[in-house]
Amino acid sequence: MQASQQQAAGGAVPLHVEQFTLRRGPVAVLDAVSLTLAEGQTLALIGESGAGKSTLAFAAMGLLNEPGVAMEGALRVCGDDVAHAAEKQLRRWRGTRMGLIFQDASAALNPCFTVLDHLSEPLRRHRGYSRAQCRERALALLESVGIADPQARLKAYPHELSGGMQQRVMIAIALACEPRLLLADEPTSALDVTIQAQIMALILERVHALGASAVFVLHDLALATQVADRVAVMYAGQIVEEGPAKEVLNHPRHPYTQGLRASAVEFGAERLQPIAGVVPALSNMPQGCRFAPRCPRATAQCGERPQPRTMGAVKVACWNL
Ligand SMILES: Nc1ncnc2c1ncn2[C@@H]1O[C@H](COP(=O)(O)OP(=O)(O)OP(=O)(O)O)[C@@H](O)[C@H]1O
Ligand SMILES: [Mg+2]
Repeated sequence: MQASQQQAAGGAVPLHVEQFTLRRGPVAVLDAVSLTLAEGQTLALIGESGAGKSTLAFAAMGLLNEPGVAMEGALRVCGDDVAHAAEKQLRRWRGTRMGLIFQDASAALNPCFTVLDHLSEPLRRHRGYSRAQCRERALALLESVGIADPQARLKAYPHELSGGMQQRVMIAIALACEPRLLLADEPTSALDVTIQAQIMALILERVHALGASAVFVLHDLALATQVADRVAVMYAGQIVEEGPAKEVLNHPRHPYTQGLRASAVEFGAERLQPIAGVVPALSNMPQGCRFAPRCPRATAQCGERPQPRTMGAVKVACWNL
C-alpha cells in the first residue's frame, strides 16, 4: 500500500454505519441501519430481494448522493462520511478507499474500451501513472487475477472475453489501486456454477492479500458461512440479526433468519419450508417490527420497533427471543 493511502485510511475502521437511514421520497429504503466492519474482516449481507442490500453497498460507494435520495445518520468509510461528501471527494475515494464489483461484468465494462483502457483509468487518475507504467501494472494485475496470456488480453474488448474472464477483469479494476474496502454485489450469481467457486476464492484471496475488508452481497447462505467472518441479515431495509457468520447461520435466533435457513436449498433441508407471506411494500410498512405480519412468534409488543439486543456475540432485533 502506498504511504498516501495508509494516511488516507488513517487507521480508521473501513466501514462504520450508525443509525443510517436512506429515503427515496417518503419511503425509507434503509431504516436505522448500524454495523461496523473491522480491518481485514469480511461481512455477508443476506436477505430477500428488495431488502436493501445493494442500496447499502451503493450508498457506501457514494453512488446514491443524488437529488431524491435523503440520507441521515453516519455512513463512514475509513473514517469519513460518504453520505454527505461532495462528488469531487468521492471520486478521489472510489478506487483508493472503496472498490465495487457488480453482479454482471458484461454490463459494467464499457464495450468501446479495451482491457488496458479499463485498467489504466484508475491508475492514471489516482496514481498519475504514465502509459508505460499503466501497461506494466495492468499486466501484473491480470496475472494476479489468473488471466492466461495477459499480453494478448490487454488489447481485448469485453465481448472478446468469457463471462468468467470479464469478472476477473472487473476484480482487477476494482482492486487496481488497493482499496481498503471492497463491496461485491452478488459477484458470482451471473456466472456458470462451475466457475462461481473459483471466482469467489479469487476475490477472497485478493482481499486477504491486500489486507482489505469486504462486504459481499449474497443469496447463498452456505457460501456466506464459508467466505464471511460476519453476517448481517436484512429484512425490508432493516438489519434484524448481525454477528459471526457461523453463529448466526448455524444457530439463527431471529424468526426471519430461522425462516431463511429453513427455506435455503443449500443447507440441504429435506423439506424446504418457504417463509409464508410476502415482504410488505415499502410505502406501506408496519410501524413496529417490519417482519411482524409474517412472523409466527408475533405478539402485541411487535407493534413497537424492537431495538437490537446483544446475545453473546450476536445482535438480534426481536421482542420474543
Ligand atoms: N433507483 C431506484 N429507484 C427507486 N427505488 C429503488 C431504486 N433502487 C432500489 N429501489 C428500491 O429500494 C429497495 C431496496 O432495493 P435493493 O436493490 O437495495 O434490494 P436488494 O436487497 O439488493 O435486492 P436484490 O436481492 O433483489 O438485489 C427496493 O424496494 C427497490 O425497489
Ligand atoms: Mg441487489
